[in-house]
Amino acid sequence: MTDIVIAGFGTVGQGFAEVLAHTSPGLREQFGPLRLVGAFDSRSYAYDTNGLDPVALLESKAAGRVGKRDIPGTSRELLDEMDYDILVEVTPTDIGDGGSGMGHILSALGAGRHVITCNKGPLSLRFQELEGLATRRGAMLRFEGSVGGAMPIIHVAKDIMAGEDITSIKGILNGTCNFILHRMGNEGLPFQQALREAQQLGYAEADPTYDIEGVDSACKVAILSNAIFGRDVTVHDVMRVGISSVTDEAIALAREQGQVLRLIGEVGQSRLEVAPRLVPIGHPLAIGGTLNIAQIDAKFSGPITVAGRGAGRMETASAILSDLMTILRAQ
Ligand SMILES: NC(=O)c1ccc[n+]([C@@H]2O[C@H](COP(=O)([O-])OP(=O)(O)OC[C@H]3O[C@@H](n4cnc5c(N)ncnc54)[C@H](OP(=O)(O)O)[C@@H]3O)[C@@H](O)[C@H]2O)c1
Repeated sequence: MTDIVIAGFGTVGQGFAEVLAHTSPGLREQFGPLRLVGAFDSRSYAYDTNGLDPVALLESKAAGRVGKRDIPGTSRELLDEMDYDILVEVTPTDIGDGGSGMGHILSALGAGRHVITCNKGPLSLRFQELEGLATRRGAMLRFEGSVGGAMPIIHVAKDIMAGEDITSIKGILNGTCNFILHRMGNEGLPFQQALREAQQLGYAEADPTYDIEGVDSACKVAILSNAIFGRDVTVHDVMRVGISSVTDEAIALAREQGQVLRLIGEVGQSRLEVAPRLVPIGHPLAIGGTLNIAQIDAKFSGPITVAGRGAGRMETASAILSDLMTILRAQ
């Protein structure tokens, strides 16, 4: 029996509840029953040690709140009182102090419970401390969805390429910026118009600052640096230039030279940066649209390229499912 709690019941939390409803009957034969025992959003919670119905929680959330009960005190205190095996932590990213997600992850790992998270705040601020706590408590910390949504970069670099000497990882880690740069390059749209289009299509937030100023990509670069290269950096250590200063002239000049501008995040021996860079047309990193793509360079294998949808309800839930399978197989 494996009991799961979902912290944060927004886009990704609901996507994972849907995935659980579909997959847990099949997984039961292999791993025993998987039970969702708790879920909470910013104000309410549902908790039942006999198990909750994910579909009923989705219906309840569609009507406004995930649970009938108000959260008493803080959500961390509530989590401290719950009994479960795996926390799925998908509350909003906060790069100030890690936000409520930091408290949730510390609570779970401190109690020896496994954590799966897509929350970039805690991972890009206090990664090694969290990994150390997980190791000391015999728990697993998994975070595939935190970098590139469904693009399986962490698993490929950390597990499949285990033992390799990875020298650099560079890629397009933010689909919103890529959409904007692609529209500017292909259609000749000015930056503001391409941004408005991204907002109308739901690719960019009403406040797009984190995306267009490269903060989201910088969080992912910090996570890759910590998780794959074993360093201890924060998002604030990443040299960062966003795309808001990219001019129509720069885009046109690039095109004349057979190149495109792309916002590239890179972790290398001495590089830790996010910046608009020129990429030759035809190169894998010259992709358009909202896809994410990354090139992992290693001593023996040479470059390995992974790509996929970098965001979305079910896409990110798919990354959580893959982390869940890793934890279940390790039991
Ligand atoms: N969306 C994606 O495609 C994607 C992809 C990769 C990574 N991520 C990361 O995954 C996380 C979740 O993203 P999302 O798109 O699902 O965000 P979201 O739609 O804004 O949902 C966030 C959820 O967290 C809840 N919440 C806020 N503060 C809370 C607190 N103190 N305690 C408990 N719950 C709290 C919110 O409650 P209310 O419902 O009451 O507001 C909401 O249910 C973020 O860290 C994001 O960066 C998202």
